[in-house]
Order: sequence, then structure tokens, then C-alpha cells
Amino acid sequence: VKEHLCLSLFFGVLVTKFVCISMQVMKYLEPFLLSLEKLNEVSARLRKDMIRGLEKHAHHRAAVKMLPTFVRATPDGTEKGDFLALDLGGTNFRVLHVRVMEEEQKMLKMDSQICAIPQEIMLGTGEQLFDHIAACLSEFLDSQNLKGQTLPLGFTFSFPCEQKEIDKQSILIRWTKGFNCSGVEGEDVVKLLKEAIHRRGDYDISSVAMVNDTVGTMMSCGYRDQTCEIGMIIGTGTNACYMEEMKNVKRVEGEDGRMCINTEWGGFGDDGSLEDILTEFDKVVDRTSINPGVHTFEKMISGMYLGEIVRLVLMKLTEKKLLFKGEASEALHTPGTFETKFISMIEEPDSGLENAKKILTELGLRWDLVDARVVRLVCETISSRSARLCAAALATIANRILANRGLPHLKTTVGVDGTVYKKHPK
Ligand code: BGC
Repeated sequence: VKEHLCLSLFFGVLVTKFVCISMQVMKYLEPFLLSLEKLNEVSARLRKDMIRGLEKHAHHRAAVKMLPTFVRATPDGTEKGDFLALDLGGTNFRVLHVRVMEEEQKMLKMDSQICAIPQEIMLGTGEQLFDHIAACLSEFLDSQNLKGQTLPLGFTFSFPCEQKEIDKQSILIRWTKGFNCSGVEGEDVVKLLKEAIHRRGDYDISSVAMVNDTVGTMMSCGYRDQTCEIGMIIGTGTNACYMEEMKNVKRVEGEDGRMCINTEWGGFGDDGSLEDILTEFDKVVDRTSINPGVHTFEKMISGMYLGEIVRLVLMKLTEKKLLFKGEASEALHTPGTFETKFISMIEEPDSGLENAKKILTELGLRWDLVDARVVRLVCETISSRSARLCAAALATIANRILANRGLPHLKTTVGVDGTVYKKHPK
């Protein structure tokens, strides 16, 4: 009984201490809490920006680019063929051989290989990047015994591109996420890839069709579910695409049917329209990123940045003596050390607190149980804000489709992909 009483007292003290500290902590977390009213405002601003991006002349200056993709329909499930595919711009660079077979009803066969892209290539020259991609593809073709064949290639290139057709010119508007190769912005990416393959001369490809990852996600989801007309990525970066009425796509000729629009919503706020919801931490993340001033919305949402926001908040709380008895470790002082995957691990319903303890120890911090709980609270706050902003933006798209079609209700499927979406427990 005595032991039991002692234990209850211990947890009682712990809970009281946590409640007391978290009330002070909330002062710093409050700017991350977005009310439903604020989210509705954000959604209304995005709605206006989307309309602006679709316009014929205003789109050059628009923060939300609304890029025509020249994809005019979602798949109907009868597609077949033998293809190569490249996937560049997410957590991993992948090369794939995809066979879509009619006989085995909607069956896909895929062989794939992941290739590392070293940091020096991500920040090197365009020629080095495309030579590296062509070399990875060559190695993969060897391993699959495919060098003798000339297959068409699908290129998922997850950056904003101005396209002229799906298999023609694809001009990179700007690098995002961790990439910044010289001599590629403003150039035709398909051409650069083909040139790198020709430089090698050990294999060839037929046509190249280029899509954004949101479009690839919508299409592959739509292959099985024809009601899928929205694709969304919450991974290293964030973005969404959807099927828009051709008559609203002022930059492309023709009025009939629909076209998939790559919204590039990551750029939302680049004209200052999100200033009221940016926190001091978001501003530091932007200033210290490799692309300051751009992709404001993305920097509040995606995997490339969430961990760093958490680290900055933890630093602030430590300075204010609300964490780790006011003592930060060298690791906590170092940008990039709090990885976004730690947020998912710490928020795991069962093992979360144990994971938090391990992570804090690895970061060289001297923590107690209250610290571990406060860290979890910080993670939850940052990831909830990310989820809410995505939900608000997704609602904007769904409402637009609804209004476009004059429907009272919309039943649709959203194809979603990306490491943050897949790995986060909630
Ligand atoms: C890119 C988008 C891409 C998204 C998700 C963003 O940084 O600009 O084109 O779809 O990341 O990968």
C-alpha cells in the first residue's frame, strides 16, 4: 500500500508539473494553433490565388502557378504496355520497369531500384545531375537485361515545370526542396535528360512523357478508382493537382472537356498573403533555407521543414528554461539534427514516449519525464498545423470542383502519397 501511495504521489507531482509547464509552453505554441475561422480565411485566399493562376496574363506573377499538365483524362483501366519510369524529387530517386497487363485485369508488374543522389550532385551542375540519372538508368537496364529494347519512358519530375505538351518541352520554373543544380532553371528538362542518355550512347529510349508527382499519384489511383480526380503529396514537399474545366484554363486553347492542373500550392503565400499566420520560427526556417522567400506554404507543411521547425521551438523553450533545465546540447544547436521522422516516432500512440526518450538521449540532452511530454506536445502542435493547412487547401480544391460542376454534393477520391502522409501515425 505504501509503495502504491508513493507511486501515485510521484505521478501526481509529475502530472501537476507537466500541466504547469505546458501552460507556459502554450504561450510559444499558440501562434501555431489555427482556428476554423482562420482556416476558412486561408482557404478563401487560396481560392482567389487559384483563379489568378489560371488567368491568361496574370499567371506570370501568380504565387500559385496553376500549371496546365496536358493530361486530359484519368485512366479507365484498359491501359497496357511496357514502360520505363524515373521518379525524381521525393525522398528517393527511383528507376522502374513497369508492365501494365490487360490479361491479368488491371495488373501492374514493377521492378525498381533506388539510387542515391549525393548532396554534391543535388547542389552541383545540371549536367552532373542528368549524367548521374542516365548512369543509374543504364545500371538498372543492365540488371534487367533491357538494353536491347527501346522503351518509352515516364518521367515523374516533382518540381514546377511549364509544359507545352505531355511529351514535349518541359521548362523548369525553379528548383524546390533540397535541389539547386545550376543551369537547369529555364531549361527543357526532357531535352537535358535525352542529351545525357545520348552522351552515354549505350542504350536508347523512345518517347519521354513527363508528369509531376501529384499527377502521377492521381493517375495511378484513378487507374483503379475512376472517381479519383485529385492528387495530393505530403512528403519532402507538398502540392496537389485536380481536374479543371478546359474553359477555365485560359492559357490553353479549347473549351471542351477537362485538363489536370498542377496547382503548385507550395508557392501559396510567396506574395506575402500568409504573413498573418507565419510564426517567428517559420521565418527563420525560410531565411536559412536554400530558397529564401519561396514556397512559403510548403515550408509550414512538408517533411523537408517540419523537423527544423520543431528544433527551433525546442531551442526557444530551452532558452526560456521550460525544457532540459535550460541546457541545450550541441546537437540541438545544429540545424537539421531534429529529423522529421522523429516527429512521427514521438507521436506513435504506444511507443511514442519511449521513442522520445531515446531520441532526446541520442541528441545528447539531459531530459526528465516532463521534458519528454513537452517535446511530444511540440511535435503534435507542429504536425497538426501541417495537417490543418493541407485540409484547408484540399477543401478549396474540392469546393472548386463542386462549384465548377454546379453540384450540391461531390463524391470524389483523393490519391495521396508522400513520406509524411505515409509515416505519420495520425
Ligand atoms: C514541388 C512540386 C511537387 C511537390 C511534392 C514541391 O516542392 O514544387 O512540384 O509536386 O514538391 O513533391
